[in-house]
Amino acid sequence: MSYCLSIFFILITISALCIKKSFEIKHSTKTAYLDSFSDEQLKYINNIENYKIENCSPEQIYIFLRHGSRYPNSKYVRNTEDFLNKVKVLRREQAEKYNVTKTSAIDEIFLTFHDKPHHGLSDLGAFEMYDIGQRFKKRYPNLFSNDEKDVLNHINIVSSDRDRSIDSGKNFVNGVFGKGSRISEYVNNNFILNNTLIRYFDECERYLVDVKKKKKSNEDLVNFIKGHEMTRLLSNFKTRNHIQELNFETKILYVIFGLCGIEHAHRMERNWCKLFENDEELEILSYLSDLKDYWIKSYGNIINYQVVQYIFKDLFTNLDMHIKNHPKRKKVLLRFGHAENIIPLVSVLSLFKDPFVLKYDKFNQVKDRLFKTAIMSPFASNVAFVLHKCNQTDEMYKVKILVNELPLHKIRAGDMECNKENTSMCNLNSFRSLLNEYLNVDLEQSCTLNKNLNLEL
Ligand SMILES: *[C@@H]1O[C@H](CO)[C@@H](O)[C@H](O)[C@H]1NC(C)=O
Ligand SMILES: *[C@@H]1O[C@H](CO)[C@@H](O)[C@H](O)[C@H]1NC(C)=O
Ligand SMILES: *[C@@H]1O[C@H](CO)[C@@H](O)[C@H](O)[C@H]1NC(C)=O
Ligand SMILES: *[C@@H]1O[C@H](CO)[C@@H](O)[C@H](O)[C@H]1NC(C)=O
Repeated sequence: MSYCLSIFFILITISALCIKKSFEIKHSTKTAYLDSFSDEQLKYINNIENYKIENCSPEQIYIFLRHGSRYPNSKYVRNTEDFLNKVKVLRREQAEKYNVTKTSAIDEIFLTFHDKPHHGLSDLGAFEMYDIGQRFKKRYPNLFSNDEKDVLNHINIVSSDRDRSIDSGKNFVNGVFGKGSRISEYVNNNFILNNTLIRYFDECERYLVDVKKKKKSNEDLVNFIKGHEMTRLLSNFKTRNHIQELNFETKILYVIFGLCGIEHAHRMERNWCKLFENDEELEILSYLSDLKDYWIKSYGNIINYQVVQYIFKDLFTNLDMHIKNHPKRKKVLLRFGHAENIIPLVSVLSLFKDPFVLKYDKFNQVKDRLFKTAIMSPFASNVAFVLHKCNQTDEMYKVKILVNELPLHKIRAGDMECNKENTSMCNLNSFRSLLNEYLNVDLEQSCTLNKNLNLEL
């Protein structure tokens, strides 16, 4: 066991280096964090000079992070196990009927992840969070100082109650303050679990009923699943694997796609991924995945981004406490959640937004779309708001936003833009006014069914 583990850790270290070569966009939200970066971007995030701003000093940071790479959920494992069993039964029938044993790539597939904690943070995920924590510490040493008194008074961590989020938080903290250090131990024992803040998408009735539960009848998803790309993919898949007799739908392909993404993220031996013939097949499935997230977590429905309003309110409450010198102000605010948070958060900021609506019949036209969840929301994706105090003429307090550690050069919300030149900084007050309308929407009313809505962003 320890032999495997140590090999695995070596692999992680190696893959962290190797990863730089590939720039993956084909595994949607199952993409490993560093796979979503280009070489140039990797160079950028590793150079602390890029984060220094003349005449300004960072005073407060609020970072929202999705959990790191994880293992699949038990449904994936069960579904694929059932599927492989059906293939085995079919092979016996074929042998009897045709007196030949048919084989294909599918007969070589072995079960993966069945012995892993379902949905749990993986070793790679732990490493990703640790690594991000270390980079933030290097960039902002005054915020992440190791001074014990300072830390204990100035850090505040909220996580969803899911193990993968809590474990992500602990690994981030270890990256900042050192694994096993007194500070890390203390901080890691003082997480606040608050699903109302982090998982409000599970509490907003209107979102649950009108969006999540209607997923199966969403016109674009249904039409894409029944459309010619998916139909052809399914039929080719059946033919080349000699399993035409099996009656199954495209759903299993989507599950296999997910497992392939997780395998690839972990640089495992190609197994489920072997079932896809080429990049085009992966692109079709990642379009399906992006389409789903577009309609369920992003621009497709206004309520999708309303469900993260508490997070923006939490941000502003803390920014205000800081500038008002409130006795309970914190320097470092860390929030650990899910893709269901990151995708709406960046949508509120009008990022990755194409000048067209993602539709079922647009696959070929929108291959180079902006809305790619592999880039927006890979494992460990994050959005950081850094409050700076500046010695300048106009306003003292300015906000810089980093999405996956890269600065935004235009800070926007809805159709509005922070009218600052290309400095990546927005005056706190201008930033507030960008989001004013969004923050003033009555969330409870929006989330109540059968009420008239006024949900303009
Ligand atoms: C701002 O100005 C004050 C007074 O001149 C100086 O002490 C401080 O270091 C300056 N801060 C920055 C970030 O330049
Ligand atoms: C089935 O295959 C075996 C081995 O090739 C052969 O000996 C046998 O005659 C075949 N049976 C039929 C019914 O074709
Ligand atoms: C959880 O978060 C919500 C929304 O920010 C807040 O109203 C509530 O007070 C928090 N609960 C706890 C126990 O901190
Ligand atoms: C803004 O600045 C960044 C970095 O300095 C640069 O890469 C980008 O091209 C600039 N954009 C515009 C519109 O000037």
